[in-house]
Amino acid sequence: MGTFIPVTPTEAIGKNEMLPFTVDGVDIVVVNLNGNFYALKDTCPHAGAPISNGYIRGESLMCAYHGAKFRIQDGAVLTPPAMCAIPSYSVRIENGMIEVEIEA
Ligand code: FES
Repeated sequence: MGTFIPVTPTEAIGKNEMLPFTVDGVDIVVVNLNGNFYALKDTCPHAGAPISNGYIRGESLMCAYHGAKFRIQDGAVLTPPAMCAIPSYSVRIENGMIEVEIEA
């Protein structure tokens, strides 16, 4: 089990927007999907592009490089050319702060 680390206030990420962060040495992207927050590793498993350079399309996140799509809620791959999921991290809100659980 990891440790929940405060990342940013909830109001820092607008509805259906995302921001990249480095948390405990791990590059992540935090997505606000209709008021719910999700955290994924900020690396596309296809060719390593920062997924935070991509686009939110409904409930999916599309890589800007070659168009693979991933489910925002858990990073599951939805369309090629990526063949595997993006790792996801547990998120909680404490006193208005988004906290992300990073494995030690
Ligand atoms: S690097 Fe993301 S689809 Fe190729």
